[in-house]
Amino acid sequence: MTERTIVVVGGTGKTGGRVLARLRGMGAAVRAASRSGEPPFDWNERATWDAALDGARAVYLVPLDGALLTRPFVERAARLGVERVVLLSGRGVDVPDYGDPSGSVGATHADGESAVRESGLEWTILRPGWFAQNFTEGFFREMVLAGELRLPGGDGAASFVDADDIADVAVAALTGDGHDGRTYELSGPRALTLTEVAVELSAASGRPIRYVPLPPEEYVAELTGQGWPRAEAEEFAGAVAPLRRGLDEVLSHGVREALGRAPRDFTAFAAAAGAAGAWD
Ligand SMILES: NC(=O)c1ccc[n+]([C@@H]2O[C@H](COP(=O)([O-])OP(=O)(O)OC[C@H]3O[C@@H](n4cnc5c(N)ncnc54)[C@H](OP(=O)(O)O)[C@@H]3O)[C@@H](O)[C@H]2O)c1
Repeated sequence: MTERTIVVVGGTGKTGGRVLARLRGMGAAVRAASRSGEPPFDWNERATWDAALDGARAVYLVPLDGALLTRPFVERAARLGVERVVLLSGRGVDVPDYGDPSGSVGATHADGESAVRESGLEWTILRPGWFAQNFTEGFFREMVLAGELRLPGGDGAASFVDADDIADVAVAALTGDGHDGRTYELSGPRALTLTEVAVELSAASGRPIRYVPLPPEEYVAELTGQGWPRAEAEEFAGAVAPLRRGLDEVLSHGVREALGRAPRDFTAFAAAAGAAGAWD
């Protein structure tokens, strides 16, 4: 599968960037498709889609949350000769009552999964839980730097998955055999409460970090106070609700199923991030 271009949609993001680096390291022809790619690809500008897909045989697809664009994009990809798609989805898509039924992220993933299954292409779906890298590259990093994880997580736990493991599974599915028609549920090897996360991050960063559990309405008020539109703040608080309700504690086995090895533990992630200066 490496002789023709592999397109990495979201190639500047937490998983896409890692997928891109791995494929480049293997000597594969790759193209990053995002607004800062060359040529620029914007989900919201359909005129940019064909150039992003030109000459592609396989696509790693990080969808645009809140939109229902995966289906038309995959249909277009199939028409342009793409043969294989690996879709990044999310935990809980098939779990009744997991998320907010009015939430737009869940709708993006549910429709995206149906689209790839119905596409006629070779397909693999990745369903990760919360990424460990949210604390280093994502939205939670600012809270780590401020020393307080202020979140509406109650005493719930999450089996954080390492984006390096997600990328390893994605690359296996993009370049190897035996992953067609598979849906991989991806988690780390254990669930941690946010108090336990704070302990791990304190040890790894050398900074005192504590978890401050907030009632959801107080969290929404904090986000809107920081300038978030109310709907987005409520949507994000809704995304944390499964964690608070204990639904993100589940351990899943997709890393071992796809790669034949255990997923990386949060302690190893945090130690490596600290050594690499993630919070300096
Ligand atoms: N983070 C988690 O814990 C988590 C857990 C489970 C599932 N997920 C799912 O993973 C996906 C990625 O989420 P993430 O938060 O980790 O983000 P991310 O992949 O780190 O970043 C988003 C990527 O999308 C690109 N992008 C954003 N808007 C775009 C647009 N209009 N057109 C083209 N590209 C665009 C960005 O690149 P440019 O800025 O260069 O355009 C970037 O490469 C989402 O579908 C999310 O639901 C995330």
